[in-house]
Amino acid sequence: MIRLGIDIGGSGIKGALVDVRTGQLTTERYRIPTPVERTPDSMAEVVNQIAEHFQYKGLIGVGFPSIVKHGVCMSPGNLSPLWVGLNIEKLFESYTGQPCAVINDADAAACAIMDYGVGKGKKGFIITITVGTGLGSGAFLDGKLIPNFELGQIPYKKHKKIESWASSAARENEGLSYKEWAKRFNKFLHFVTLISPPDLIILGGGISKEWDEFSPFIKCNVPIVPAVLQNQAGIIGAAAAAYLREFPELIREGI
Ligand code: BGC
Repeated sequence: MIRLGIDIGGSGIKGALVDVRTGQLTTERYRIPTPVERTPDSMAEVVNQIAEHFQYKGLIGVGFPSIVKHGVCMSPGNLSPLWVGLNIEKLFESYTGQPCAVINDADAAACAIMDYGVGKGKKGFIITITVGTGLGSGAFLDGKLIPNFELGQIPYKKHKKIESWASSAARENEGLSYKEWAKRFNKFLHFVTLISPPDLIILGGGISKEWDEFSPFIKCNVPIVPAVLQNQAGIIGAAAAAYLREFPELIREGI
């Protein structure tokens, strides 16, 4: 039960083979920087290079960083506007020659966290936040995914969306300390809990590795824990989504 999972991010496109029974990577992660223009053809070419690297044949699971409905890109996210309206699955299939199952990247990471990580077995309303180039979010109610939950799109002051101000990319671009960045992230968490307070927030993405450094500055009136899978979750969740596409009787609602 090995599937190729590919996690498309604003700065890197990462893939690995994953044993979907255990949620473990069975190969090293292979990463190629995301082409700066972030256009459909340039990124599809990278997806193909990753599939070729693993000499993989079969259904490929892909986590894609924008709203995805039935394989179609519904919003630009932090990518080129050329993506909007495009059938991502068909595009990647035309480049790789393999069938592809594409879901939102934060939903993929969230599914991995809930199936194999700290969210396993947890009921109630759970929100996962993947902090990276953007602020990805996944929402689960009693173990069921509510897809395309776009909390990073909340408008904030002069910013079109709060993720432009409170993501990891904003921290790096503006050279903020963890303490300075945490003030922004706390504001985001405050909005999230105002809208509909979850029972638990799980924090993922590359930054969750630095949890010990920044957690003393995080203030939130809801319990918040780091995702143990850290930034492998996107790959694992994408591979699992491919597997579930082949075995629809196991499918999570919404994917
Ligand atoms: C997109 C989300 C995505 C997040 C993380 C946002 O810009 O709107 O769909 O999950 O970035 O990549």
